[in-house]
Amino acid sequence: MELDVSRTVADYAVAYPPSKRVFEKLGIDYCCGGKKSITEACESKGVALEDLAELLKAEEARPQNGEAVELDFASMSLAALSDHIVRCHHNFTREEDARIVALLNKVCSVHGRNHPELFEVQRIFGELKSELETHMLKEERMLFPYISLMESSFNFGMPRPPAPFGSTRNPVAVMISDHDKAAEMLVEIRNLTNEFTVPGDGCVTYRTLFSALEGLEKDLHQHIHLENNILFPKAIEMEDAGTVSDARALQEQACGIHEHGHEHSHGHAHSHGHAHGHAQANGCGCGCNH
Ligand SMILES: [Fe+2]
Ligand SMILES: [Fe+2]
Repeated sequence: MELDVSRTVADYAVAYPPSKRVFEKLGIDYCCGGKKSITEACESKGVALEDLAELLKAEEARPQNGEAVELDFASMSLAALSDHIVRCHHNFTREEDARIVALLNKVCSVHGRNHPELFEVQRIFGELKSELETHMLKEERMLFPYISLMESSFNFGMPRPPAPFGSTRNPVAVMISDHDKAAEMLVEIRNLTNEFTVPGDGCVTYRTLFSALEGLEKDLHQHIHLENNILFPKAIEMEDAGTVSDARALQEQACGIHEHGHEHSHGHAHSHGHAHGHAQANGCGCGCNH
């Protein structure tokens, strides 16, 4: 594979998934930091471009066993991809979060005196867990269902359905900022644990805890990669492909209150807004600017 240094790390991770193994080995972030060009990413990690090209070539030549073969996420429908993210990554995160909390409690109580940094890991992990719970609920209850609905409208040649949050870019920006925060917390945990190195006096539970934390970090990298680099950009691309004026007409029809073109003839927001569950305080929230 010829290395195209002008492309981003995320481009490589999406177009050639085995490259993620190489990036992981080199400590190059392909999810939240995926927008960096290959040149920038190599410079920031002190990696020579020729070395990266060699490693990618070797990865390409390596027989891909079952573990290394990845589904073709870039070609999946957005509904199928969202479903995969929830089934595989959200569920895994919830299970592991609960397991890690129990392990942390045990390891802190036994080893906390000799390794006080464990309490800091426990504090940060508690925050990460709580942030992730809220974040995943926002995706599952609001953003993902909307993306699937927009995709089916798009496939039927219909305009974009109305959304309480306006453009998909708005919730996507919030989700990406949440991802950045989670990634920072993961880095803090990695640093505090000296890259998940179990100390000499560490017991089996200590080892289990560190391997669970490292496993969760790895899974979150893939999880965030699928959202930041595939699902979200494709959803925005789909939204941009729709026609705004048509979407607005449909929104007004769906609202059922407005008579298009008679902006001052109908009632105010409080008289009908709640009937549709619209969240905006001024106007009905259906996107028709009343
Ligand atoms: Fe997610
Ligand atoms: Fe997310």
